[in-house]
Amino acid sequence: MRLSVIGCGYLGAVHAACMAALGHEVVGIDVDAEKVAALSRGEAPFYEPGLPEVLTEAMASGRLRFSTDIADAAGSQVHFVCVGTPQKPGEYAADLTYVDASVDALVPHLSAGDLVVGKSTVPVGTAARLAATVSTAVPGAMLAWNPEFLREGFAVKDTLTPDRFVYGVPSGTDGETATGLMDAVYAEALATGTPRIVTDYATAELVKVAANSFLATKISFINAMAEVCEETGADVTQLADALGHDERIGRRFLNAGLGFGGGCLPKDIRAFMARAGELGADQAVGFLREVDAINSRRRTRMIDLAREVNEGTIRDKRIAVLGTTFKPNSDDVRDSPALDVAAGLARQGAHVVVTDPQGIANARRRHPELTYVETVAEAVAGADSVLLLTEWAEYRDLEPDDLAGLVATKTILDGRNALDPVRWRSAGWAYRALGRP
Ligand code: UDX
Repeated sequence: MRLSVIGCGYLGAVHAACMAALGHEVVGIDVDAEKVAALSRGEAPFYEPGLPEVLTEAMASGRLRFSTDIADAAGSQVHFVCVGTPQKPGEYAADLTYVDASVDALVPHLSAGDLVVGKSTVPVGTAARLAATVSTAVPGAMLAWNPEFLREGFAVKDTLTPDRFVYGVPSGTDGETATGLMDAVYAEALATGTPRIVTDYATAELVKVAANSFLATKISFINAMAEVCEETGADVTQLADALGHDERIGRRFLNAGLGFGGGCLPKDIRAFMARAGELGADQAVGFLREVDAINSRRRTRMIDLAREVNEGTIRDKRIAVLGTTFKPNSDDVRDSPALDVAAGLARQGAHVVVTDPQGIANARRRHPELTYVETVAEAVAGADSVLLLTEWAEYRDLEPDDLAGLVATKTILDGRNALDPVRWRSAGWAYRALGRP
């Protein structure tokens, strides 16, 4: 099939490459000429394991190309809208400027029978509004909403073999046609039995924000338990293990620590609160305010803990920070708890030396005041405390004895409950963590 992908950021670049890998002929379109040039050379503009390989192969096949010209979308049967919906500055609501602008720009190039498929995360009600724009401008053109659930670090796998497909479609024959077109696009995954839920626009839009709200709630729930553990001497990691054996609860997303960050969970729950408020349903999602508050408290608590182990003040103390990204296997520092804590420590007068396997360039752009080094050895040299804030595999596997001779004080704070306290303590380190005795 001939497909266009509008917006080649995280979601769009991965989607375009994966659709070409499935055998479709794909044009990826973005207003950012630099991004288009990089992608056209087969280079991923961000760190995502597996993406460079898929991209290179798709480019070599001749089925994938990138362009800054929206007119190149003409002739495609299906047009995926993959642009960002960031949080509005100073507000909770999502900024729909890019979604609206890309649909407006696309409309003159559509033909009857074309299907526009929204993948961006949007406030409920957006799809119905855009469907009217599309069908008024081009009679016979249709719109569907097909939310994307990919995780950074697993984006290729999640796109090619998702847990489920959700199609929000119009009623009647247009809905059947739209469903048929999306089935043809995703034929390979559907053939392996991937579940597909065909529903109305509003339900499809809500599935995405409800899923992210649930995940955020699960994380904040266990972090709330961590707060209680801190007051009682209990161990939140053992608590989570014990809870997780109950299949109704499950162990995944019960890792207590610094909490959630990134480009999705924080802004999506805030946009949901804002939209629910507009709809008069703010009481129904009032708990999300608490989920957000618990999440923020983890960052403050980490800074407090750093002060506590440094006899009450971190002014002029040398603090090594391992990790800047919001999670491992990503170079993304958007709303990163790790980077936020590092900046908070610096604001209190500490000399913060930061390292990360992939995130330094992005972190430096946001927080140029911090000192960045390439290796763990450089970061911990002369440190009064070492803080593990993103649980990269190489940090989990650190040998306490290898660092012992480099630091000034053998104190490690584990912001992600990623280390074995027994191993570090038996090597003579003071080990502290969030929610652990
Ligand atoms: C998330 C959703 O998982 C994905 O389905 C959606 O499409 C986009 O948002 P992502 O932002 O890539 O994906 O990150 P995710 O793996 O969900 O982690 C989010 C944050 O929660 C990270 O900061 C992570 O460190 C934190 N987290 C996750 C915890 O603190 N504890 C956990 O147990 C799990």
